[in-house]
Amino acid sequence: MTSSPAHPASEPAGDRVETGGRRRPTLRSDLRAALPDGLIALVVTGAVFALIYVRIRAGTSSTLSVMPFMADTGKFWMYFLSQAFGWSALLWAWITVVLGLFLSGPRPSWPPLSGQRLERLHRTTSLNTIALIAAHALLFAAELFRSDSARWDSALVTAFVETFVPGGYVSGTGRIAIPIGQAALYLAIPLGLLFYVRHRIGPKTWRVLHRFVIAVYVLSVWHTLLYGTNVWYDGWFRTAVWLLQIPIAALLLLRLLRPARRSEELRGPRAHTGSPTGWGLRLGGRLAIAGVIVALIGVIVSGYDGGRTAPPEDTSSSHVEHD
Ligand code: HEM
Repeated sequence: MTSSPAHPASEPAGDRVETGGRRRPTLRSDLRAALPDGLIALVVTGAVFALIYVRIRAGTSSTLSVMPFMADTGKFWMYFLSQAFGWSALLWAWITVVLGLFLSGPRPSWPPLSGQRLERLHRTTSLNTIALIAAHALLFAAELFRSDSARWDSALVTAFVETFVPGGYVSGTGRIAIPIGQAALYLAIPLGLLFYVRHRIGPKTWRVLHRFVIAVYVLSVWHTLLYGTNVWYDGWFRTAVWLLQIPIAALLLLRLLRPARRSEELRGPRAHTGSPTGWGLRLGGRLAIAGVIVALIGVIVSGYDGGRTAPPEDTSSSHVEHD
Protein backbone atom coordinates (compact mmCIF):
# COMPACT_ATOMS: atom_id res chain seq x y z
CA MET A 1 0.00 0.00 0.00
CA THR A 2 1.49 3.35 -0.97
CA SER A 3 0.90 6.75 0.50
CA SER A 4 0.25 9.81 -1.62
CA PRO A 5 0.61 13.60 -1.38
CA ALA A 6 -1.43 15.32 1.29
CA HIS A 7 -4.73 16.96 0.42
CA PRO A 8 -5.31 20.68 0.60
CA ALA A 9 -5.64 21.80 4.20
CA SER A 10 -9.25 22.88 3.58
CA GLU A 11 -10.45 19.26 3.28
CA PRO A 12 -12.07 17.61 6.28
CA ALA A 13 -9.58 15.62 8.36
CA GLY A 14 -11.54 12.40 7.78
CA ASP A 15 -10.89 12.58 4.01
CA ARG A 16 -7.22 13.43 4.03
CA VAL A 17 -5.78 9.95 3.87
CA GLU A 18 -5.12 8.45 0.47
CA THR A 19 -3.96 5.16 -0.90
CA GLY A 20 -2.39 4.61 -4.30
CA GLY A 21 -3.50 8.04 -5.55
CA ARG A 22 -7.11 7.30 -4.62
CA ARG A 23 -8.78 8.90 -1.63
CA ARG A 24 -8.99 6.31 1.09
CA PRO A 25 -12.48 6.23 2.55
CA THR A 26 -12.69 6.72 6.28
CA LEU A 27 -15.45 5.84 8.67
CA ARG A 28 -16.33 9.51 8.90
CA SER A 29 -16.57 10.05 5.14
CA ASP A 30 -18.59 6.83 4.73
CA LEU A 31 -20.97 7.77 7.54
CA ARG A 32 -21.69 10.98 5.65
CA ALA A 33 -22.11 9.07 2.40
CA ALA A 34 -24.43 6.59 4.16
CA LEU A 35 -27.08 9.24 4.81
CA PRO A 36 -29.10 8.89 1.57
CA ASP A 37 -29.52 5.13 1.77
CA GLY A 38 -30.00 5.46 5.53
CA LEU A 39 -32.96 7.74 4.84
CA ILE A 40 -34.37 5.25 2.33
CA ALA A 41 -33.98 2.54 4.98
CA LEU A 42 -35.97 4.68 7.43
CA VAL A 43 -38.74 5.21 4.87
CA VAL A 44 -38.85 1.44 4.23
CA THR A 45 -38.95 0.81 8.00
CA GLY A 46 -41.81 3.30 8.32
CA ALA A 47 -43.76 1.55 5.56
CA VAL A 48 -43.21 -1.88 7.16
CA PHE A 49 -44.25 -0.47 10.54
CA ALA A 50 -47.45 0.92 9.00
CA LEU A 51 -48.21 -2.46 7.45
CA ILE A 52 -47.58 -4.31 10.73
CA TYR A 53 -49.70 -1.76 12.62
CA VAL A 54 -52.62 -2.01 10.19
CA ARG A 55 -52.50 -5.81 10.29
CA ILE A 56 -52.50 -5.83 14.09
CA ARG A 57 -55.47 -3.43 14.14
CA ALA A 58 -57.31 -5.59 11.61
CA GLY A 59 -56.52 -8.73 13.65
CA THR A 60 -54.86 -10.40 10.66
CA SER A 61 -51.25 -10.40 11.91
CA SER A 62 -49.80 -13.75 12.88
CA THR A 63 -47.98 -11.94 15.72
CA LEU A 64 -51.42 -11.81 17.32
CA SER A 65 -51.98 -15.53 16.85
CA VAL A 66 -48.77 -16.11 18.79
CA MET A 67 -49.30 -13.32 21.32
CA PRO A 68 -52.98 -12.24 21.47
CA PHE A 69 -52.22 -9.78 24.30
CA MET A 70 -50.38 -7.60 21.75
CA ALA A 71 -53.65 -6.40 20.19
CA ASP A 72 -53.21 -3.09 22.04
CA THR A 73 -51.28 -1.09 19.43
CA GLY A 74 -51.02 1.95 21.70
CA LYS A 75 -49.15 -0.12 24.27
CA PHE A 76 -46.96 -2.33 22.09
CA TRP A 77 -45.97 0.06 19.28
CA MET A 78 -42.28 -0.18 20.21
CA TYR A 79 -42.39 -3.94 19.72
CA PHE A 80 -43.94 -3.48 16.27
CA LEU A 81 -41.36 -0.82 15.41
CA SER A 82 -38.63 -3.26 16.51
CA GLN A 83 -40.13 -5.85 14.15
CA ALA A 84 -40.14 -3.28 11.33
CA PHE A 85 -36.45 -2.45 11.94
CA GLY A 86 -35.74 -6.21 11.94
CA TRP A 87 -37.18 -6.45 8.43
CA SER A 88 -35.34 -3.42 7.07
CA ALA A 89 -32.13 -4.74 8.69
CA LEU A 90 -32.61 -8.07 6.95
CA LEU A 91 -33.38 -6.38 3.63
CA TRP A 92 -30.31 -4.13 3.89
CA ALA A 93 -28.18 -7.14 4.87
CA TRP A 94 -29.46 -8.89 1.72
CA ILE A 95 -28.66 -5.87 -0.44
CA THR A 96 -25.18 -5.38 0.98
CA VAL A 97 -24.32 -9.08 0.59
CA VAL A 98 -25.48 -9.00 -3.05
CA LEU A 99 -23.37 -5.86 -3.70
CA GLY A 100 -20.38 -7.46 -2.00
CA LEU A 101 -20.71 -10.57 -4.16
CA PHE A 102 -20.96 -8.37 -7.29
CA LEU A 103 -17.64 -6.83 -6.25
CA SER A 104 -15.79 -10.04 -5.51
CA GLY A 105 -17.32 -12.19 -8.25
CA PRO A 106 -18.24 -11.61 -11.90
CA ARG A 107 -19.57 -8.06 -12.30
CA PRO A 108 -23.09 -7.91 -13.83
CA SER A 109 -23.97 -5.21 -16.37
CA TRP A 110 -26.78 -4.06 -14.06
CA PRO A 111 -26.80 -1.88 -12.00
CA PRO A 112 -24.83 0.39 -14.37
CA LEU A 113 -22.45 1.65 -11.68
CA SER A 114 -18.68 1.98 -11.76
CA GLY A 115 -16.69 -0.37 -9.51
CA GLN A 116 -15.97 2.56 -7.20
CA ARG A 117 -19.65 3.55 -6.85
CA LEU A 118 -20.64 -0.07 -6.29
CA GLU A 119 -17.95 -0.42 -3.63
CA ARG A 120 -19.12 2.72 -1.88
CA LEU A 121 -22.74 1.58 -1.95
CA HIS A 122 -21.62 -1.74 -0.47
CA ARG A 123 -19.90 0.07 2.38
CA THR A 124 -22.75 2.47 3.10
CA THR A 125 -25.41 -0.24 3.02
CA SER A 126 -23.21 -2.27 5.41
CA LEU A 127 -23.01 0.64 7.85
CA ASN A 128 -26.77 1.10 7.63
CA THR A 129 -27.35 -2.62 8.20
CA ILE A 130 -25.44 -2.41 11.50
CA ALA A 131 -27.44 0.69 12.50
CA LEU A 132 -30.75 -0.99 11.62
CA ILE A 133 -29.90 -4.13 13.62
CA ALA A 134 -28.93 -1.93 16.58
CA ALA A 135 -32.25 -0.04 16.31
CA HIS A 136 -34.15 -3.37 16.15
CA ALA A 137 -32.44 -4.65 19.31
CA LEU A 138 -32.67 -1.33 21.18
CA LEU A 139 -36.42 -1.06 20.55
CA PHE A 140 -36.87 -4.61 21.80
CA ALA A 141 -34.94 -3.61 24.95
CA ALA A 142 -37.08 -0.45 25.25
CA GLU A 143 -40.25 -2.55 25.09
CA LEU A 144 -38.93 -4.94 27.77
CA PHE A 145 -38.11 -1.92 29.94
CA ARG A 146 -41.53 -0.34 29.40
CA SER A 147 -43.45 -3.49 30.24
CA ASP A 148 -41.41 -4.32 33.36
CA SER A 149 -43.17 -3.30 36.57
CA ALA A 150 -39.98 -3.52 38.68
CA ARG A 151 -38.11 -0.39 39.82
CA TRP A 152 -36.67 1.54 36.84
CA ASP A 153 -33.02 0.68 37.58
CA SER A 154 -33.66 -3.02 37.92
CA ALA A 155 -35.95 -2.97 34.86
CA LEU A 156 -33.17 -1.27 32.89
CA VAL A 157 -30.61 -3.90 33.86
CA THR A 158 -33.05 -6.75 33.05
CA ALA A 159 -33.88 -5.27 29.63
CA PHE A 160 -30.19 -4.81 28.84
CA VAL A 161 -29.22 -8.31 29.96
CA GLU A 162 -32.13 -10.00 28.16
CA THR A 163 -31.41 -8.14 24.94
CA PHE A 164 -27.65 -7.93 24.76
CA VAL A 165 -26.09 -10.61 26.97
CA PRO A 166 -25.92 -14.11 25.47
CA GLY A 167 -27.85 -16.44 27.76
CA GLY A 168 -29.62 -13.50 29.41
CA TYR A 169 -32.95 -14.36 27.77
CA VAL A 170 -33.96 -17.59 29.40
CA SER A 171 -37.28 -18.80 28.07
CA GLY A 172 -38.70 -20.56 25.04
CA THR A 173 -37.38 -20.27 21.47
CA GLY A 174 -35.69 -17.00 22.47
CA ARG A 175 -33.06 -18.99 24.38
CA ILE A 176 -31.66 -20.00 21.00
CA ALA A 177 -32.97 -17.31 18.64
CA ILE A 178 -31.81 -14.29 20.66
CA PRO A 179 -28.16 -15.44 21.00
CA ILE A 180 -28.17 -16.16 17.24
CA GLY A 181 -29.29 -12.56 16.61
CA GLN A 182 -26.70 -11.29 19.10
CA ALA A 183 -23.96 -13.29 17.38
CA ALA A 184 -24.95 -11.67 14.07
CA LEU A 185 -24.80 -8.19 15.63
CA TYR A 186 -21.54 -8.77 17.48
CA LEU A 187 -19.84 -10.23 14.42
CA ALA A 188 -21.20 -7.56 12.07
CA ILE A 189 -19.58 -4.75 14.02
CA PRO A 190 -15.91 -5.86 13.80
CA LEU A 191 -16.19 -7.58 10.42
CA GLY A 192 -17.84 -4.51 8.91
CA LEU A 193 -15.72 -1.86 10.60
CA LEU A 194 -12.28 -3.50 10.25
CA PHE A 195 -12.30 -2.07 6.71
CA TYR A 196 -11.49 1.33 8.16
CA VAL A 197 -8.29 0.08 9.80
CA ARG A 198 -7.23 -2.25 7.00
CA HIS A 199 -4.16 -0.13 6.34
CA ARG A 200 -3.08 -1.02 9.88
CA ILE A 201 -3.95 -4.73 9.88
CA GLY A 202 -2.94 -5.25 6.25
CA PRO A 203 -5.32 -5.63 3.29
CA LYS A 204 -4.79 -9.38 3.10
CA THR A 205 -5.74 -9.94 6.75
CA TRP A 206 -8.73 -7.69 6.22
CA ARG A 207 -9.85 -9.60 3.12
CA VAL A 208 -9.55 -12.96 4.88
CA LEU A 209 -11.52 -11.72 7.92
CA HIS A 210 -14.14 -9.90 5.84
CA ARG A 211 -15.06 -13.14 4.07
CA PHE A 212 -16.59 -14.39 7.32
CA VAL A 213 -19.20 -11.65 7.09
CA ILE A 214 -21.38 -14.12 5.19
CA ALA A 215 -21.83 -15.83 8.58
CA VAL A 216 -23.53 -12.66 9.84
CA TYR A 217 -26.04 -12.94 7.04
CA VAL A 218 -26.69 -16.64 7.62
CA LEU A 219 -27.20 -16.03 11.36
CA SER A 220 -29.60 -13.16 10.60
CA VAL A 221 -31.77 -15.31 8.33
CA TRP A 222 -31.69 -18.18 10.81
CA HIS A 223 -32.73 -15.84 13.66
CA THR A 224 -35.61 -14.46 11.57
CA LEU A 225 -37.00 -17.80 10.42
CA LEU A 226 -36.74 -19.19 13.94
CA TYR A 227 -38.20 -16.27 15.87
CA GLY A 228 -40.12 -13.86 13.69
CA THR A 229 -43.81 -14.09 14.51
CA ASN A 230 -44.67 -12.79 11.05
CA VAL A 231 -42.99 -15.87 9.58
CA TRP A 232 -43.96 -18.14 12.48
CA TYR A 233 -46.42 -20.20 10.43
CA ASP A 234 -46.24 -21.87 7.02
CA GLY A 235 -47.33 -19.53 4.26
CA TRP A 236 -46.26 -17.52 1.24
CA PHE A 237 -44.34 -14.92 3.20
CA ARG A 238 -42.15 -17.50 4.94
CA THR A 239 -41.60 -19.20 1.56
CA ALA A 240 -40.61 -15.82 0.06
CA VAL A 241 -37.94 -15.35 2.73
CA TRP A 242 -36.54 -18.79 1.86
CA LEU A 243 -36.74 -17.98 -1.87
CA LEU A 244 -34.68 -14.82 -1.42
CA GLN A 245 -31.78 -16.95 -0.24
CA ILE A 246 -31.41 -18.65 -3.64
CA PRO A 247 -29.88 -15.59 -5.39
CA ILE A 248 -27.45 -15.17 -2.48
CA ALA A 249 -26.33 -18.81 -2.67
CA ALA A 250 -26.10 -18.66 -6.48
CA LEU A 251 -24.02 -15.46 -6.40
CA LEU A 252 -21.77 -16.98 -3.73
CA LEU A 253 -21.19 -20.01 -5.92
CA LEU A 254 -20.48 -17.78 -8.94
CA ARG A 255 -18.10 -15.70 -6.85
CA LEU A 256 -16.19 -18.85 -5.91
CA LEU A 257 -16.18 -20.24 -9.46
CA ARG A 258 -15.34 -16.95 -11.19
CA PRO A 259 -13.69 -14.70 -8.58
CA ALA A 260 -12.80 -11.12 -9.54
CA ARG A 261 -9.24 -11.80 -8.28
CA ARG A 262 -7.61 -14.31 -10.59
CA SER A 263 -5.39 -15.49 -7.74
CA GLU A 264 -8.52 -16.91 -6.05
CA GLU A 265 -9.45 -19.09 -9.02
CA LEU A 266 -9.56 -22.81 -8.38
CA ARG A 267 -7.31 -24.38 -11.00
CA GLY A 268 -6.81 -28.10 -11.52
CA PRO A 269 -4.98 -29.95 -8.70
CA ARG A 270 -1.77 -29.99 -10.77
CA ALA A 271 -1.84 -26.29 -11.57
CA HIS A 272 -2.58 -25.41 -7.92
CA THR A 273 0.45 -23.86 -6.23
CA GLY A 274 -0.62 -24.24 -2.55
CA SER A 275 -1.03 -27.37 -0.42
CA PRO A 276 -3.31 -30.25 -1.55
CA THR A 277 -5.34 -29.78 1.66
CA GLY A 278 -5.95 -26.14 0.71
CA TRP A 279 -7.08 -27.24 -2.75
CA GLY A 280 -9.39 -29.86 -1.26
CA LEU A 281 -10.91 -27.32 1.13
CA ARG A 282 -11.55 -24.84 -1.67
CA LEU A 283 -13.17 -27.50 -3.81
CA GLY A 284 -15.21 -28.66 -0.78
CA GLY A 285 -16.44 -25.09 -0.23
CA ARG A 286 -17.70 -24.85 -3.80
CA LEU A 287 -19.44 -28.23 -3.57
CA ALA A 288 -20.99 -27.27 -0.22
CA ILE A 289 -22.53 -24.10 -1.71
CA ALA A 290 -23.88 -26.11 -4.66
CA GLY A 291 -25.38 -28.46 -2.04
CA VAL A 292 -26.96 -25.50 -0.24
CA ILE A 293 -28.65 -24.40 -3.49
CA VAL A 294 -30.08 -27.89 -3.99
CA ALA A 295 -31.22 -27.96 -0.34
CA LEU A 296 -32.88 -24.52 -0.67
CA ILE A 297 -34.79 -25.66 -3.74
CA GLY A 298 -35.76 -28.84 -1.86
CA VAL A 299 -37.05 -26.82 1.11
CA ILE A 300 -39.11 -24.54 -1.11
CA VAL A 301 -40.54 -27.28 -3.32
CA SER A 302 -41.32 -29.68 -0.46
CA GLY A 303 -42.68 -27.01 1.91
CA TYR A 304 -40.61 -28.47 4.79
CA ASP A 305 -39.31 -25.08 5.80
CA GLY A 306 -39.54 -25.18 9.58
CA GLY A 307 -42.80 -23.19 9.68
CA ARG A 308 -45.36 -24.06 12.35
CA THR A 309 -48.76 -25.33 11.25
CA ALA A 310 -50.99 -22.38 10.43
CA PRO A 311 -53.37 -21.43 13.28
CA PRO A 312 -57.15 -21.63 12.89
CA GLU A 313 -58.92 -18.59 11.37
CA ASP A 314 -60.32 -17.71 14.77
CA THR A 315 -57.21 -17.35 16.91
CA SER A 316 -58.94 -16.22 20.07
CA SER A 317 -58.53 -19.67 21.62
CA SER A 318 -55.08 -20.54 20.31
CA HIS A 319 -52.92 -18.60 22.71
CA VAL A 320 -49.36 -19.84 22.50
CA GLU A 321 -46.88 -17.87 24.56
CA HIS A 322 -44.10 -16.46 22.36
CA ASP A 323 -41.25 -16.54 24.77
C1 HEM B 1 -29.16 -8.35 19.75
C2 HEM B 1 -29.64 -8.94 18.67
C3 HEM B 1 -31.09 -9.20 18.42
C4 HEM B 1 -32.18 -9.25 19.27
C5 HEM B 1 -32.20 -9.05 20.77
C6 HEM B 1 -33.35 -9.53 18.47
C7 HEM B 1 -34.64 -9.68 18.95
C8 HEM B 1 -35.71 -10.14 18.22
C9 HEM B 1 -37.00 -10.53 18.72
C10 HEM B 1 -37.41 -10.52 20.18
C11 HEM B 1 -37.77 -10.91 17.67
C12 HEM B 1 -39.22 -11.44 17.71
C13 HEM B 1 -40.13 -10.38 17.17
C14 HEM B 1 -41.44 -10.97 16.73
O1 HEM B 1 -42.32 -11.20 17.58
O2 HEM B 1 -41.62 -11.20 15.55
C15 HEM B 1 -36.99 -10.75 16.49
C16 HEM B 1 -37.45 -10.99 15.21
C17 HEM B 1 -36.79 -10.59 14.08
N1 HEM B 1 -35.48 -10.17 14.01
FE1 HEM B 1 -34.22 -9.90 15.58
N2 HEM B 1 -32.97 -9.62 17.16
C18 HEM B 1 -31.60 -9.43 17.07
C19 HEM B 1 -30.83 -9.46 15.91
C20 HEM B 1 -31.35 -9.48 14.64
C21 HEM B 1 -30.58 -9.39 13.42
C22 HEM B 1 -29.07 -9.40 13.35
C23 HEM B 1 -31.48 -9.36 12.37
C24 HEM B 1 -31.26 -9.26 10.88
C25 HEM B 1 -30.36 -8.56 10.27
C26 HEM B 1 -32.81 -9.46 12.93
C27 HEM B 1 -33.97 -9.46 12.21
C28 HEM B 1 -35.20 -9.87 12.71
C29 HEM B 1 -36.38 -10.06 11.90
C30 HEM B 1 -36.51 -9.82 10.40
C31 HEM B 1 -37.39 -10.53 12.76
C32 HEM B 1 -38.82 -10.90 12.39
C33 HEM B 1 -39.78 -9.81 12.86
C34 HEM B 1 -41.23 -10.17 12.54
O3 HEM B 1 -41.60 -11.34 12.53
O4 HEM B 1 -41.98 -9.25 12.24
N3 HEM B 1 -32.69 -9.54 14.31
N4 HEM B 1 -35.74 -10.30 16.84
